[in-house]
Amino acid sequence: MPAIVVLGAQWGDEGKGKATDLLASQETIDYVVRTSGGHNAGHTIVVNGERFATHLLPSAILTPGATSVIGNGVVVSPEALFRELDGLRERGVTDVEERLVVSANAHVIASYHSTIDKVTERFLGKNKIGTTGRGIGPAYADKVNRLGLRVADLFDEKILAQKVEGALELRNQVLAKVYNRRAVEAEQVVEELLGYAERLRPMVADTGLLLNRALDEDKTVLFEGAQATMLDVDHGTYPFVTSSNASAGGVCTGSGVGPTRLDRVIGVIKAYTTRVGSGPFPTELFDEDGEKLWKIGGEVGVSTGRDRRCGWYDAVIARYATRVNGLTDLFLTKLDVLSSWEQVPVCVAYDVDGVRHDEMPMTQTEFHHATPIYEYLDGWWEDISGCRTFEDLPPNAQAYVRALEEMSGTRIWAVGVGPGREQTVVVHPEA
Ligand code: GDP
Ligand code: IMO
Ligand code: MG
Repeated sequence: MPAIVVLGAQWGDEGKGKATDLLASQETIDYVVRTSGGHNAGHTIVVNGERFATHLLPSAILTPGATSVIGNGVVVSPEALFRELDGLRERGVTDVEERLVVSANAHVIASYHSTIDKVTERFLGKNKIGTTGRGIGPAYADKVNRLGLRVADLFDEKILAQKVEGALELRNQVLAKVYNRRAVEAEQVVEELLGYAERLRPMVADTGLLLNRALDEDKTVLFEGAQATMLDVDHGTYPFVTSSNASAGGVCTGSGVGPTRLDRVIGVIKAYTTRVGSGPFPTELFDEDGEKLWKIGGEVGVSTGRDRRCGWYDAVIARYATRVNGLTDLFLTKLDVLSSWEQVPVCVAYDVDGVRHDEMPMTQTEFHHATPIYEYLDGWWEDISGCRTFEDLPPNAQAYVRALEEMSGTRIWAVGVGPGREQTVVVHPEA
């Protein structure tokens, strides 16, 4: 399987880090690639009981021998990148910088992008998106407005100065006149960015060429998604989304690898649902069940420390994610969290103003009005975190997995029963 995609099927934090790390430990992975988003991501890996979190770097940075790639579709804050590299070095992972390649075409997040992100959220008040405040939206906005800075620009002082001045001409008007903020000095920004150039230069390459050549040579490339399908700027719950294509299409545009080269697309999905930030969430719980999921699941964000909103599994979203991404498999995580419910509700369809919808409603208004239609599956009480084969799982947990597989329209390749790499039950070893 030379080209494998791992991506989020819900609203993020499904366990993409764990899935990536697991695949990297099972197969010989030559390259692990991030193709969208930036340091708004927080991916957790637990190896031999030791916990690591990655943000801008691909999770398999910890896999010996694998080369990590930051593709052209990613927005790169050099400051955040160096902080992350230094953090790993301090924890004894010393060769990361030598195994990292950054696309010359990736866009750069400058300090003014995060300033604008934060003031915009404040301006929106109760209508805010609940962004991570990392400058992701403004950096992508500049990209689309053709006012963006790219990694290669850091190596040409004259061009960089021109571009920063061009971007700030517009941005400063908005900062001063709309938000009543001080204008940002172009010179200062240029100086700061130039300060990153020397350390960054050895890592920069034509990553599209590199990856296509690797696939020509039958090397294995793993694309690690960030954010998720329901946060995708086109397919998610717009405007309560991130500013990139976090679904499968973004893998191609964000890497320069064509769709015919992708062999397997794995959607990571929790056995229930969580969401951070604002926006509609039909199965959200506001009662003690929600609190129990939050508590047992440890549902606190890795990047921002914000509490995640919790709710039951939504099979409408699973089917939607299957369709939008052309999923070949699902990786169902956190099944262990569901031990100790008499019955586990699963959303099979929505009621929208009295009309049943088996598929995602067409309009945002309808989705905002959607209330879940539940099917109740029998629960189990056993601690399943030590299970290693499907047969080890209690019969009702097996039935839960099979029912979700049926409802979601894709085979469930594996099930997570704990945060550790080894806490995984492979349901379809043939996949
Ligand atoms: P990502 O952003 O998709 O990589 O996910 P996060 O790392 O933000 O959040 C997932 C959380 O669930 C992390 O704390 C993981 O260690 C944890 N996790 C992943 N899979 C499992 C699982 O099967 N069971 C349990 N209990 N925790 C898991
Ligand atoms: P991983 O990769 C969960 C959410 C934010 C906010 C919205 C827009 O760890 O799954 P942004 O800063 O991207 O402009 O914020 O998207 N969000 C995430 N939620 N997991 C993530 O990443 C997220 N990245 C962004 O909370 O609602
Ligand atoms: Mg996360």
